[in-house]
Amino acid sequence: MVKKINIIDAKDHVDEEVKIGVWLTDKRSSGKISFLQLRDGTAFFQGVVVKSQVSEAVFQLAKDVKQEASMWVTGVIHEDTRSHFGYEIEISAIELIGDSGDYPITPKEHGIEFLLDHRHLWLRSKRPFAIMKIRNEIIRASYEFFNQEGFIKMDPPILTGSAPEGTTELFHIEYFDSDAYLTQSGQLYAEAGAMAFGKVFTFGPVFRAEKSKTRRHLTEFWMIEPEMAFTTQEESLVVQEKYIAYLVQNVIDHCAYELKLLDRDIDQLKKYTTTPYPRISYDKAVEMLQAADFDIKWGDDFGAPDETYLSDQFEQPVFILNYPKAIKPFYMKSHPTRDDVYLCADLLAPEGYGEIIGGSERETNFAKLEAEIQKMGLDLEEYQWYLDLRRYGSVPHSGFGLGLERAITWICGIDHLREAIPFPRMINRIKP
Ligand code: 4AD
Ligand code: MG
Repeated sequence: MVKKINIIDAKDHVDEEVKIGVWLTDKRSSGKISFLQLRDGTAFFQGVVVKSQVSEAVFQLAKDVKQEASMWVTGVIHEDTRSHFGYEIEISAIELIGDSGDYPITPKEHGIEFLLDHRHLWLRSKRPFAIMKIRNEIIRASYEFFNQEGFIKMDPPILTGSAPEGTTELFHIEYFDSDAYLTQSGQLYAEAGAMAFGKVFTFGPVFRAEKSKTRRHLTEFWMIEPEMAFTTQEESLVVQEKYIAYLVQNVIDHCAYELKLLDRDIDQLKKYTTTPYPRISYDKAVEMLQAADFDIKWGDDFGAPDETYLSDQFEQPVFILNYPKAIKPFYMKSHPTRDDVYLCADLLAPEGYGEIIGGSERETNFAKLEAEIQKMGLDLEEYQWYLDLRRYGSVPHSGFGLGLERAITWICGIDHLREAIPFPRMINRIKP
């Protein structure tokens, strides 16, 4: 019996005869030889069919087979130093499994809206393949990192009555006879978890009714939110940079092939694996923007162009510390010596990518927190459970949230978040 393998394992079977289940992505034939571009979900490589070496029927099938038809191919693995992948298969037999025809995504260029309309098929192409594999690696390495660091994963609810990040971007739903929202962030629940288990992290989908049509905003995205009891903001920053450096290192170590498919420069990524990352204050960031003629004054939130400029000024990710209170959420801890800013930081990714992490120390002063909730116009009743965390054995604690798609977009070196999630949801897109 010929051994069944995956393309990714071809290197272990050089000069052996093997059988692989594949789809055809593209082909080129002359009278004497056919080159079939094949994929099996683990990698892409080339199959070669030489007329003089196979039966008439096999050669004819190789000529006729349609893009995205599925088949078993049998043949011998050879090295192929000219390709990305490094190996190819010299095919002796082909067995058609599922025919295809008029596959809409051809090897020519397509517009982005067309590709997004066909996302269920587009996922099969090289670029989405590489990005999704890197997404998977970032998720895997995240679980590994936080488990190694003594965190436990805790799952917050998706249906909720609270609005940690402000009420303007909530998706409202009818919940039997009352109202509920799709969660914007698992953080408040993660704080409850930190008081129970010390160090927790959440990982799940969050929802924001973002009206902004930017390349950095999705209405449904995935967030990793670690929360740590007995931990200051300064200590949290050290965890954050160690975590990001760990993610980048693991992508370099485990996704060399995918990075090559995306033409992502590994030497560039290596710069992000050393810590500490630079830190500047919000005050300083505003000065830098003003010096570069941006129209901004102290107290304004940063827009995408501001973040792009700031992150372009550094070789590594950069922490922006202590933002004005008016532009950040209610749960952040006041600065010990300044009334106007919080103990918080955003991490901006380099190469102009902008914010990937938002985090802070959490307010523990009961009266202050209660006042902040009211000032935000939130219903105090809804937050009694959250206030209980301050009533019963409150401790200093800090945490942060990494936007998964923002991290993927940056690490992959692509230019829009819509490619960093299998089925993107944006203001004008909820299909397929
Ligand atoms: O800065 P944000 O709003 O912070 C929080 O939600 C906190 N509760 C986190 C915490 O301290 N536990 O969001 C965190 C991150 C951002 O830095 C960004 O990477 C990402 O989530 N993000 C988005 N990603 C895609 N689309 C959107 N609309 C996003 N909004 C935020
Ligand atoms: Mg933020």
